[in-house]
Amino acid sequence: MELYFAPLEGITGYIFRNAYNGIYGHIDKYFAPFISPSDKCPMTSRERKDIAPENNTGINLVPQILTSRSEHFIEAAKELQLMGYNEVNLNLGCPSGTVCAKGKGAAFLPETPALQRFLDDIYSYAAQENMKISIKTRLGYYNPDEFYDLMEIFNNFPVSELIVHPRIRSDFYKGKTRKEYYIYALEHSKCPLVYNGNIFTVNDYKDLSVSFGFDPDPIMSGRGLITDPSLADKLKGFATDSDFTKLKKLHDTVYHEYQKVISPDINVLYKMRELWSYWQVLFDSSERDIKRLMKAKKYSEYEEIAYRLLEDMQPEA
Ligand SMILES: Cc1cc2nc3c(=O)[nH]c(=O)nc-3n(C[C@H](O)[C@H](O)[C@H](O)COP(=O)(O)O)c2cc1C
Repeated sequence: MELYFAPLEGITGYIFRNAYNGIYGHIDKYFAPFISPSDKCPMTSRERKDIAPENNTGINLVPQILTSRSEHFIEAAKELQLMGYNEVNLNLGCPSGTVCAKGKGAAFLPETPALQRFLDDIYSYAAQENMKISIKTRLGYYNPDEFYDLMEIFNNFPVSELIVHPRIRSDFYKGKTRKEYYIYALEHSKCPLVYNGNIFTVNDYKDLSVSFGFDPDPIMSGRGLITDPSLADKLKGFATDSDFTKLKKLHDTVYHEYQKVISPDINVLYKMRELWSYWQVLFDSSERDIKRLMKAKKYSEYEEIAYRLLEDMQPEA
């Protein structure tokens, strides 16, 4: 089975990707959090740093572009091509208020004539330049039935992979995914499909297999891989339990690498809190400690709790 790591803006940047890839591995493709080109420049220096090949060695990375203007997409894709990338991903799913207010991400989905023109432009460029363009989409903005028209539109283009997160914008990331629409995609898509959404455990994957009548492959997971970083090992049959020695290594590597590039200290702690908001389910009897850890304002306070929690989970020598 091929497993893709979903992009999570603010979490799966190059520091996390490198740490994860070195310690766990077993990811076939990583998708970088979106870059958002503007009139001024195809990408900011921060976005460039995240996807720079020298910061992603040994990682099979696909950069992602978020825009509703084809000239911006093409400018950014050209830059990415110069950096050595031969696949880019189009974000048609972001539900955030600021993104949608600008007509990008999920808000581009109901604008079907404009979307069709945008895809005409970017796929003509892709054909000339021998570039692959994959798409990561939701089912629609207002209503999941928008997906029927969208499927017809996508079928007009050589979409290298269509990653479907079967939710609409107002679902954000909550509730069950709308698997029946993914089944519709399985029946009608001319593009290779990738399923994304709510794969947190091996049982979640087995449930999908039952719903679809076969083992979906490839699949993309985001929060599941962050919450239990051993999920890739488990899905691929290399492990049955979560490996806390690896989790400690992941924690330590990410923590120390953040300290090298982020200041002041509190901003490093904010980044770590975000990870612990996912990891806390692995430490279910330590609620009070987790609460204190989330409030820590100094490295010393944070380290006292984090290292103790992680040490307690280590196997007996
Ligand atoms: C904090 C956060 C940041 C995200 N950033 C991006 C992003 O930059 N690009 C994107 O396509 N999706 C983004 N997503 C969506 C995820 O890639 C993924 O589609 C979603 O979490 C559902 O998959 P999961 O249930 O496996 O996590 C983000 C989601 C979260 C929670």
